[in-house]
Amino acid sequence: MFAPISLDEILFMSRDVWQKYYQEVKNRKHLPRTEVAVRLNQSGLHVAVDCGCGTGSDIEFLAQNNYRVYGFDKNPDSVEICRSRFFNNSEVTIDEASFENFYYPESGIVLANSSLFFAESSLFERTWQLIVSSLRGGGVFSGDFIGEKDSWVFDRSGSINPLTKREVVELFSDFEIVKFHERSEQGKTAIGREKYWHTFLVTAIKRI
Ligand SMILES: C[S@@+](CC[C@H](N)C(=O)[O-])C[C@H]1O[C@@H](n2cnc3c(N)ncnc32)[C@H](O)[C@@H]1O
Repeated sequence: MFAPISLDEILFMSRDVWQKYYQEVKNRKHLPRTEVAVRLNQSGLHVAVDCGCGTGSDIEFLAQNNYRVYGFDKNPDSVEICRSRFFNNSEVTIDEASFENFYYPESGIVLANSSLFFAESSLFERTWQLIVSSLRGGGVFSGDFIGEKDSWVFDRSGSINPLTKREVVELFSDFEIVKFHERSEQGKTAIGREKYWHTFLVTAIKRI
């Protein structure tokens, strides 16, 4: 008979997995879609928010492009990595916060790369409203959502926020969608674990 696994053990395991993930991606370049967001931003506001900022690769690119950047992550390890990465840059602020409790400043770009997967489902409508209302018209949202067929929906112990394709499209009623890509395939995570990926990548401009 196996002993039941405690919540502390689950939390520790997930922190351990995130630490491996941060080690794996910490030297990674920013995503090409972040360059697209900078090109598309017509809001006149050089302020960006990176939700679930991980190791800060996209923050670095935005800061190099003269953005005032607010990054936040719920994981203290991510916050420590980003605070030390940007300690001498007064244009970058890093907060330890969750999607649900972050204070979203008015911005021209909001990034949520592979992060809103983990938002609290029961509060997501409100979280999304906070994000949308923080974006100035002409500003850009770029990020990913997790679909119902993703294996994490079935086997992950923590919070996961699956959406249907229709639900994702409906989130963008106040936007012009520039890119919409559905990924549905077997693949690997950044730390080499097999999983089924079902995600939606969206880049969209908020209507003025
Ligand atoms: C897959 S990583 C992506 C990191 C980064 N955006 C990137 O593209 O490299 C997801 C990040 O979301 C963070 N995260 C998970 N749940 C969160 C929450 N409820 N609020 C804020 N950040 C969260 C994790 O700690 C992790 O750093």
